[in-house]
Amino acid sequence: MAQYVGAVDQGTTSTRFMIFDHAGEEVARHQLEHEQILPRAGWVEHDPIEIWERTSSVIQQAMNKADVTAADLAAIGITNQRETTVVWNPKTGRAWYNAIVWQDTRTDRIASKLERDGHGEVIRRKAGLPPATYFAGGKIQWILENVDGVREAAERGEAIFGTTDSWIIWNLTGGTDGGVHVTDVTNASRTMLMDLETCQWDDELIALFDIPRAMLPEIRSSSEPQGYGTTLTKGPVRGEVPLTGILGDQQAATVGQVCFEPGEAKNTYGTGNFMLLNTGTELVRSEAGLLTTVCYKFGDEPTVYALEGSIAVTGSAVQWLRDQLGIISGASQSESLARQVEDNGGVYFVPAFSGLFAPYWRSDARGAIVGLSRYNTNAHLARATLEAICYQSKDVADAMYSDSGVKLEVLKVDGGVTANELCMQIQADVLGVEVSRPVLAETTCLGAAYAAGLAVGFWASTDELRSNWNEGRRWSPQWDDAQREAGYTGWKKAVERTLGWVD
Ligand code: G3P
Repeated sequence: MAQYVGAVDQGTTSTRFMIFDHAGEEVARHQLEHEQILPRAGWVEHDPIEIWERTSSVIQQAMNKADVTAADLAAIGITNQRETTVVWNPKTGRAWYNAIVWQDTRTDRIASKLERDGHGEVIRRKAGLPPATYFAGGKIQWILENVDGVREAAERGEAIFGTTDSWIIWNLTGGTDGGVHVTDVTNASRTMLMDLETCQWDDELIALFDIPRAMLPEIRSSSEPQGYGTTLTKGPVRGEVPLTGILGDQQAATVGQVCFEPGEAKNTYGTGNFMLLNTGTELVRSEAGLLTTVCYKFGDEPTVYALEGSIAVTGSAVQWLRDQLGIISGASQSESLARQVEDNGGVYFVPAFSGLFAPYWRSDARGAIVGLSRYNTNAHLARATLEAICYQSKDVADAMYSDSGVKLEVLKVDGGVTANELCMQIQADVLGVEVSRPVLAETTCLGAAYAAGLAVGFWASTDELRSNWNEGRRWSPQWDDAQREAGYTGWKKAVERTLGWVD
């Protein structure tokens, strides 16, 4: 009897494979980073071949570490950075262009033209998304318009699109030798091409981007008893294991945090921050700048939706302090440096590197550090960076309250930045709510494993998964209301300064 489930998490900066047991506890993991290709200001690319090689390698190394073979794995799930767009030739396995990453802003003209031409409304109504550079549709259009021969190739079936879940599943199931071309509803809901009600590609939306329909993968549920395909003996798993779960990474974290009831929410702190509120089978249209998205769909059960507040730059602002400014040598040093000061010393940092996402959706914004005086030091900037992570999450939590009436009692958090204790304390202070982190902060991988394991009966029900969730650490607010209000007023003023910076 197979005793474990595996999950690939193909993220923005790295790829990992984790193996879990029935209690949802980690058995092994391996993780590798990949190159961030930054050819011009605002452009962010990944090499799809490097991503596939890293995926193969982390699978093999995690399995080796725990002495796990294919026969020990009941199923494998895939979770991924969403929206990042790969167009490849299924006959050769080569990509037509580097993957265009979700943070990339090169499609700002495509997005603003859609709005100018009056198509924003239909995209919002059908896809639940505002026209923005963030989503995959414009990125596919850019590749079709800017890479020689792709459009003709697409007509011949020699150029197909996928987010990185599709790319990995295609490779894991045989690649040029019969790889399957599929995605799940959560990833498809991030393209601006899927109708949220039918969960199918929508002809009117596809026509707006002038995309040949044959390029698009088949949309399946997030947890498939019959599977999307199986891994191969000649592939990295070295045996046949059913691939039965796919979830975009933020939806996977929501599942890993067992937010199965309407009104339950989580906030993941990674490269960016993503807060998702389960709204059940009801499609809630946002008036406050949030996205309506698919939370998950398990097999034939009804689709569950979510409201999402996506923030482009949070953990990557800490990386910027390290890589571009050189004021810290590692992410953990952002905490010790920020702890050298009591407060931000009047400094606010708005890291609008990719414009501002939720709830503003302003691609004309650019980053700013404001409120500086001679008194300020690197420590104030480090503190302002951590505060920016938390204030952006407050903007989103307020929007969620206004759209849904759900006031958070406790915020469930996960992701790399939650290791920063000071940042989590600031989050509780800024929100005025308790912040709770589970024992296992790798909820993204766990959620993908849950989706895969539910499909094959490794776990019987979501109730069983609920009992696997255990709180690891909790932070309580320490600021009084006046302090909270004054801090937030300063943040709002700083955000104002960043808007309209570029045309
Ligand atoms: O929508 C983008 C998101 O899926 C990326 O997540 O964790 O790879 O930064 P992450």
